[in-house]
Amino acid sequence: MRKGIILAGGTGSRLYPLTYPVSKQLLPVFDKPMIYYGLSTLMLSDIKEILIISGPNDLPHFQNLFGDGSKLGLEINYAPQAEPAGIAEAFIIGDDFIGNDPVALILGDNIFFGDGLASRLQAASEKTEAVIFSYHVKNPGDYGVIELDPSGKAVSIEEKPAVPKSSLAVTGLYYYPNDVIGIAKELAPSARGELEITEINQIYLQRGRLEVQQLNRGYAWLDAGTETDLLEAANFIATIERRQGVRIGCIEEVAWRMGWITSVQLNSLGQELNKSAYGRYILSLGD
Ligand code: DAU
Repeated sequence: MRKGIILAGGTGSRLYPLTYPVSKQLLPVFDKPMIYYGLSTLMLSDIKEILIISGPNDLPHFQNLFGDGSKLGLEINYAPQAEPAGIAEAFIIGDDFIGNDPVALILGDNIFFGDGLASRLQAASEKTEAVIFSYHVKNPGDYGVIELDPSGKAVSIEEKPAVPKSSLAVTGLYYYPNDVIGIAKELAPSARGELEITEINQIYLQRGRLEVQQLNRGYAWLDAGTETDLLEAANFIATIERRQGVRIGCIEEVAWRMGWITSVQLNSLGQELNKSAYGRYILSLGD
């Protein structure tokens, strides 16, 4: 079975002073901690064995939040990243956890939303080669950028290029075969001193083993890089949740809909939170 890693470290320095007392991925995005969105995305991919990687000081907070994951029918493991030495280091830190399985990685500050997302994710998870997602953005130079040929085939990927070759950003959700561990171990630090996820994608691309799937305008992909991104993400979630009366990234609901916990278990999770609207939403689900 495919394993899942949530990378939730980094200094959060672009959000100082917000991230002095608390890890960026634990900041609220409207009604829940940021990491709930990434966790629910992995869960919707049908991934139950998850490793959360964060800085040594922050890791205990994630452990307090999720424990061993069994309340959600999950198996959640934890591993420290001593320094933010690059996204690709996740596969070196996660080596033993991944074992001989394929793996998905999501950045803990990425939020995905859209109709049919779960089936897209599950289909990606079943592939034997690498799958990444592209998304049209106004500011591609802030991201990994994918260039497509006229037939829609990926021809290049560059990290934060000064002159982007397209408006297609690489999102922070990656599905790789098991040999990603060996590929990550061969990487040398880049000019900015990091093991780059973009280099891994370039290697799969060169080997003809990278599938790039477009998430079109029917999907939302948000990250929370700056305080404005954070506010806009919260407003987006709030707008949809308040209009529809359904919640986005509710991990208890996802666990229940995936059939990993019973209605009785769902109800007791809701009871623990019954002072909040979030908890009352969980209680209302079984009705
Ligand atoms: O969000 C998608 C983008 O994520 C991709 O398009 C880029 O190709 C990819 O490099 C990455 O770009 P960012 O500029 O967002 O990377 P950043 O260094 O900000 O790291 C993303 C998240 O991962 C951030 O919340 C902190 C965390 N992180 C990062 C590094 C480098 C770690 O936990 N450990 C690390 O070593």
